[in-house]
Amino acid sequence: MALRLTVLGTGYLGATHAACTAELGFDVLGLDTDEARISALAEGKLPFYEPGLEALLDRGLRSGRLRFTSSYQEAADFGDVHFICVGTPQQAVSGRIDLSHLIHCVESLAPLLVRPCLIVGKSTTQVGTASQLAERIARLAPAGTAAEVAWNPEFLREGCGVADTLRPERIVVGVRSAAAEAILRQVYAEPLASGVPFVVTDFATAELVKVAANAFLATKISFINAMAELCEATGADVTKLAEVLGHDHRIGSAGMRPGLGFGGGCLPKDIRALSTWGAELGVGEAVRFLREVDSINLRRRSRVVELARELTGGSLQGRTVGLLGLAFKPDSDDVRDSPALHVAAAIRDLGARVSAYDPVAMDRARQADPDLEYAGSMVGAATDADVLILLTEWPEFRQADPETIGKAVAKRNIVDGRHALDPAQWRAAGWTYRAPGRPGTAQ
Ligand code: UGA
Repeated sequence: MALRLTVLGTGYLGATHAACTAELGFDVLGLDTDEARISALAEGKLPFYEPGLEALLDRGLRSGRLRFTSSYQEAADFGDVHFICVGTPQQAVSGRIDLSHLIHCVESLAPLLVRPCLIVGKSTTQVGTASQLAERIARLAPAGTAAEVAWNPEFLREGCGVADTLRPERIVVGVRSAAAEAILRQVYAEPLASGVPFVVTDFATAELVKVAANAFLATKISFINAMAELCEATGADVTKLAEVLGHDHRIGSAGMRPGLGFGGGCLPKDIRALSTWGAELGVGEAVRFLREVDSINLRRRSRVVELARELTGGSLQGRTVGLLGLAFKPDSDDVRDSPALHVAAAIRDLGARVSAYDPVAMDRARQADPDLEYAGSMVGAATDADVLILLTEWPEFRQADPETIGKAVAKRNIVDGRHALDPAQWRAAGWTYRAPGRPGTAQ
């Protein structure tokens, strides 16, 4: 009989996993305690922006394979495999990962598990969580140890969530039995048939590999941004430097774009959690470099503010600054730890009038920072600006015509925080173009 899946937690990860597994042909029940979210999803409305996902959600709902509920009883009765996708945010003071949603989810589900099933953790966590949950479930579930635990970390990127779930680069499963492995092979039969590597590990490795991957990605970005600082000190050009490094296949160019640095709900949180947790484990020295990775990253935000200040003659007091982009990256409306919002607040604090625009993240940005001035379009944000700053590399900004935008601004000054524009084209249209890690004038 075909496996029936539940997905517990319908945030970014859970909603994507639910819609994608329904697309793979499974009967899927998504659960969330947020009734408004469940009603929206049941009507085919996504509570966040993710290209391609709404079409999949719609298809799943119309096929009858995908449904949503807020009842743990219904989920327990329905599922052979329960995927836990609840959020594991960062605790404000300690920097540790907050496991309270995960624990609440397991404690709500476990007492209702009366038949054999597999509970699969996907949320980012720290080592030890899976075995603690296994022990807790065995104690709370009427099915006892027949309610087994596995860990299956998720590596999807916002903006590419559908492709990363349907055609992942690898699937990792931390299991304690051949039966658990066999069930997960059945769930992922389609990607496995197309040759996706399937790595079977113990719990600890499966839990650690997720934060290790994010720590590496963050380090790669901060490495090239550290080189940008050297470029600024020497007059070298970091975009050329990155291009040359990227041709070495051992280094590779993917994930090494210099600029404003990383933000979002994952990389900053995960490197901080790993630093704190590594120190608690007595291996603080092994992860100390992550503090440096974080510092380099935050310095890039200051550097972009500094470039804007240089372009306005040394002071931003009373100046008008147009900001292009608020999301932490394009193809997302996520503004969690967004470098763009950070820069916006810093510029406002220096006494400038800020006018910001983003093609999709305006609502979320307004919620996060209601005091910013928001414009209705790119030209609106540029109107009367003494300096424009590109903070998120949306295609709309990449393709902007410097002449058209030039007619709106007070002064043709631009800081390209994401190396998204062609400096020659903008300079030819009379703009003073600056970008972190690149020489101030054409060479
Ligand atoms: C990241 C990882 O890439 C995923 O593999 C992981 O599953 C996910 O976190 C997670 O833990 O859930 P995501 O945060 O969606 O995914 O975005 P990325 O594409 O990694 O970008 C993160 C930040 O780094 C963005 O602010 C982006 O602008 C910046 N970035 C990325 C750069 O500055 N340079 C680059 O070369 C790449």
